[in-house]
Amino acid sequence: MTQSYFQSLNYSMANEDTTLEFKLAESIGAKKILTVGGSGSRALPFIALDPDELCIVDVSTDQLLLIQLKLETIRQLSRPDAILFWTSENGEARKTVFDRMKLDEKFKSFFKFQTETNPNTPPLYWGKWEKTFQTFSKLSKLLFSRQTREGLFTAADPYDFYQKNIKGKRWSLLLKIVGNKAMFNSLLYKGSFIQKNSPLSYFDYYHQAFDRLFKLDVKKSHFLQLCLCGKVLHEEALPIEFSPDLFARIKASGSQPTYQQGSIFERAEGTCYDLVSLSDVPSYLSGEIERDYIQLLSKNLANNGVIVNRFYLRSTENTDISSFTDITNDYRGIIDQELVQMYEVQLLKHGSGKG
Ligand SMILES: C[S@@+](CC[C@H](N)C(=O)[O-])C[C@H]1O[C@@H](n2cnc3c(N)ncnc32)[C@H](O)[C@@H]1O
Repeated sequence: MTQSYFQSLNYSMANEDTTLEFKLAESIGAKKILTVGGSGSRALPFIALDPDELCIVDVSTDQLLLIQLKLETIRQLSRPDAILFWTSENGEARKTVFDRMKLDEKFKSFFKFQTETNPNTPPLYWGKWEKTFQTFSKLSKLLFSRQTREGLFTAADPYDFYQKNIKGKRWSLLLKIVGNKAMFNSLLYKGSFIQKNSPLSYFDYYHQAFDRLFKLDVKKSHFLQLCLCGKVLHEEALPIEFSPDLFARIKASGSQPTYQQGSIFERAEGTCYDLVSLSDVPSYLSGEIERDYIQLLSKNLANNGVIVNRFYLRSTENTDISSFTDITNDYRGIIDQELVQMYEVQLLKHGSGKG
């Protein structure tokens, strides 16, 4: 497995819409949750469900620091101040808000280091992944005028707008230039980009994914706004932990997550989780671990517990899913509404029964 890519701060906003995992957890009444950390957007929303246990695991210490800092901003600040901290381009205003929080020294050093490394960048875009997409967006801005971009996000029928104003030769050119292994390797993954096994070409993969995305509520898609405009334009597109409802529920919840640095697949037996949320980490697996990861996780999974996979360009091969039932189609409604649309989602339930 390629771990070198996952060493530093790669994700600060999110490259998933975790409404999917949140609704799934809500619908199965998950009380014990194990999740990959990432930007935190895939982990912190679960707190709104008051879980008995929420264990957040990541191989990267920086990701774990960012997640804890994000939770502190939710717990200690008002929603407008938290949003200002994460999104404002005014560095002084961000620092004033930061200095109002009571924080351990490790967060102060982290903030200082990140601010010096990214002097003019709001924390929401500190991650290497976010910065790469900001670079890509420069080309989108060149090819599609400001008017077009703003028109899309306020159009009564965004899909119609896309078909008339965006889809076509220039859009295809953009996807061809940006959406390929060489480009991602040179800008972001430094040779660790996923070994694609999707039968689709890169172009078809991205073209079809964006086509699905334009059919959805684009005003709420942070991903589409980042791709086309280099930042989140509309507050309702911020990651879901910033929505008025979830922000208030996370703040009010007494649930305290635990954080573990390391691989989610190398864990001692002990807890029976109801939900394990893996992001697209399995797409990076190979060899024995690719074959065995579901069975390894099953040792810590309750009967009827669910594992959520998001495959990106590569679904796992020869994986032993015996004693699991594929329940993906039962949740097709929420999967189809996901506002990034770059993933093939797989939901596996421990046990053979449907109930
Ligand atoms: C594949 S990335 C995707 C990020 C996620 N979509 C988000 O928006 O935050 C998920 C995260 O998994 C972490 N990671 C990679 N391999 C892991 C492993 N074996 N165990 C735990 N975390 C892992 C990375 O450090 C990264 O933060």
